[in-house]
Amino acid sequence: MTEIGLFEAMYSARALRRLKPDPVPDDIITRILDAAIRAPSAGNAQNWAFIVVRDVELKRKLGAIYRKASDIASAMYRVRGRPAHMSEEQYQRFLSSGAYLWDHMGDAPVLLLPCLHDRPPPPREDLPPAMQAIYERELAYGDRIRGASIYPAIQNIILACRAFGLATLITTNHIRCEEEVKAVLGIPDDVSTYAMMPIGYPRGKFGPLSRRPIDEVAYADRWNAAWHG
Ligand SMILES: Cc1cc2nc3c(=O)[nH]c(=O)nc-3n(C[C@H](O)[C@H](O)[C@H](O)COP(=O)(O)O)c2cc1C
Repeated sequence: MTEIGLFEAMYSARALRRLKPDPVPDDIITRILDAAIRAPSAGNAQNWAFIVVRDVELKRKLGAIYRKASDIASAMYRVRGRPAHMSEEQYQRFLSSGAYLWDHMGDAPVLLLPCLHDRPPPPREDLPPAMQAIYERELAYGDRIRGASIYPAIQNIILACRAFGLATLITTNHIRCEEEVKAVLGIPDDVSTYAMMPIGYPRGKFGPLSRRPIDEVAYADRWNAAWHG
């Protein structure tokens, strides 16, 4: 394989949802997983698990759950409306690409589900009094950062797929019906899923990525002080 540059990968790894049916070799999936586990995690806990689903019947069931969950998502989108930075044409393209996946998630050659084991804090009574007093805040902190120990691995998966000429994207709609997903895959109670990533060779083309410009989103030293790089 000829490696593509890191920046080329970052600038072209679009959310490609239309996939060819061609199978993805297991050794390539292993390389992608090996990139995933290089990611950082809080306390270097590496509490992750990655389920690679290739079984046709399981994918069909997961696809049906994704479809159901996406009906909820689309009702939310309809009310929320178009983000200000998107033109009407861009928004319609985004909606139709998203809608395509509602009916085709289960057709992807591979569905990859990155998961995390729950990592509850030590029991309150084991902590010193000063920590017991702020225990609720600590729980809220834990909730707030939970996904941060798996989403870097997910971004590595996106980039590694790009390097292998494979399409993928992060999707999270299924979390609305996560118990059903867990039942299909036999996932234990103390494990949560964080994404459902369809992987396959793309029908469309990679990149370029259109994003809000830096001068709208980056500040120098203080909030709202324009960054002039
Ligand atoms: C947290 C998160 C959740 C997402 N969930 C979904 C999803 O459920 N379904 C979907 O089709 N795309 C999902 N996406 C993909 C976004 O729609 C996509 O990243 C965004 O439109 C940018 O696409 P682009 O990189 O092709 O420009 C999700 C992205 C993120 C970061």
